[in-house]
Amino acid sequence: MHYDHNPRFPDNFLWGASSAAWQVEGGVLDGGRTLSTIDLNSRTKAPFADNSIAVDHYHRFREDVRLMAECGMKSYRFSISWSRIIPASDGVVNEEGVAFYNDLIDELVANGITPIVTLYHYDMPVWVDEELGGWRTRAIVDKFAEYSRVCLERFGDRVKYWLSINEQNMQIVYGHWLGTSKGCDDWFRDQWRINHIMNLCHATAVNLCHELVDGGKIGPVPGLVPIYPFSSDPMDQIAAMNAEEFTEKIWNDTYVYGEYSDFVKSYWERNDIDPGIEPGDEDLMKSAKIDFFAVNCYRSNTAKWAPVDATPQEYELNSHGDESTKLKFPVVPGAYQLVYNPFVEYTAWDWEIDPVSMRYCLRYMWDHYRLPMVITENGMGVHESLGADGKIHDDYRIEFLRNTAYQIGLAIEDGCEVFGYNLWSFTDFLSTGNGIAKRYGLVYVDVTDEQLRAAKDASELALTRIPKDSYYWYSNLIRSKGQDWGNDFARPSAGELVETAHV
Ligand code: BG6
Repeated sequence: MHYDHNPRFPDNFLWGASSAAWQVEGGVLDGGRTLSTIDLNSRTKAPFADNSIAVDHYHRFREDVRLMAECGMKSYRFSISWSRIIPASDGVVNEEGVAFYNDLIDELVANGITPIVTLYHYDMPVWVDEELGGWRTRAIVDKFAEYSRVCLERFGDRVKYWLSINEQNMQIVYGHWLGTSKGCDDWFRDQWRINHIMNLCHATAVNLCHELVDGGKIGPVPGLVPIYPFSSDPMDQIAAMNAEEFTEKIWNDTYVYGEYSDFVKSYWERNDIDPGIEPGDEDLMKSAKIDFFAVNCYRSNTAKWAPVDATPQEYELNSHGDESTKLKFPVVPGAYQLVYNPFVEYTAWDWEIDPVSMRYCLRYMWDHYRLPMVITENGMGVHESLGADGKIHDDYRIEFLRNTAYQIGLAIEDGCEVFGYNLWSFTDFLSTGNGIAKRYGLVYVDVTDEQLRAAKDASELALTRIPKDSYYWYSNLIRSKGQDWGNDFARPSAGELVETAHV
């Protein structure tokens, strides 16, 4: 579709930003918190810093919220650290942890910023893992329910948008990278049992939110990477569909329909996989009606047919953002292989720079599920350091974010119901595997991985916040309700910018 006007965003559109507790907070043992498995995992990622200090949002959240308010932000999506709320298996609620999130939420609300809260963003308490077996046993379902209940009861008077589990699909697809496969000897089969247990936790949280939060709405947060076929070869189209099923569609279908699709059931049968479904499970899953999809989408992938006799290859991420760790695309014989897309450029981490993928993703999700959507992650991770003038002139990020925001606007014009854009991220903080070397923020935090590793605690570091050029650009976009794209706005890659797009 071609439009002869700028895309229009709803008046109450939630322009915001996003974070996760374990990546931004630091203070991993402060205020009664105990460790989570991802804290331990992050300690194995040298030369990058672990998350013990992160960017010290735990102590500096008031300064961060002030900067958000000055930017004009309307929403902030963050996660709660389970081990801050329930630090041990005795189930006793840590009031200091509750007080921290109460203070953060109050500060946001006082500044007119809508909180959007994720219950689980990769940070499993060590006690859940060691004493219960983590996702590996059904014992977690009740514990997750107890934890969710505390969050919903204590914060639900002010928090109306809830997210269940962040990127469940990615936690399965990248089980080794994200630590989900810990303790499993046969990941090929075990992943489906773990996934089923996650579905039960998700469903329980959905029902609890509806029961406990007056006016509360809740959705899952799939990590979506739209898949394009490499060519018009019909087998490339089937390969794209296969890749889509195995990386995201299986999950989205289950959230919406509360039952597993014929596609995945047939796959389990052929591969002798028992996902551990017990009587009553599908009733629970069916009863949990989600209100919206939270969408994490950064990029696209491209799929090509992989013959049955192709050599299998596991996904190997480019984890350093340089030539030392070149990415290896997965090859799944008889299903698909992912390949480079000649039509898009790539970041130093080999992520596709493809703002149009956001419009594709929103259109795809709307066409399949007809549920409202809020974008909860999207952004550009790059190596950055302060220039001679003590600033960051991140035109590359501005270009990426505004082209993406424009594509969101086009998707809205196309008829999709989208109620917010929460980009990743507000300040710089730790990336999942690359410490602070991979920066996404609108606000620079003046610290390196080396300094974070050397410091004993946060009080030794200035961790100065310095707004980047993208911060001011975003502020103008928000204040103009999505109309001020900047004077040097270039033609978006979908080629649908018209004269009137220049404000
Ligand atoms: C998302 C996760 O998948 O991608 C975040 O929800 C993560 O936790 C983000 O940080 C960006 O990925 P990375 O590896 O560049 O930090």
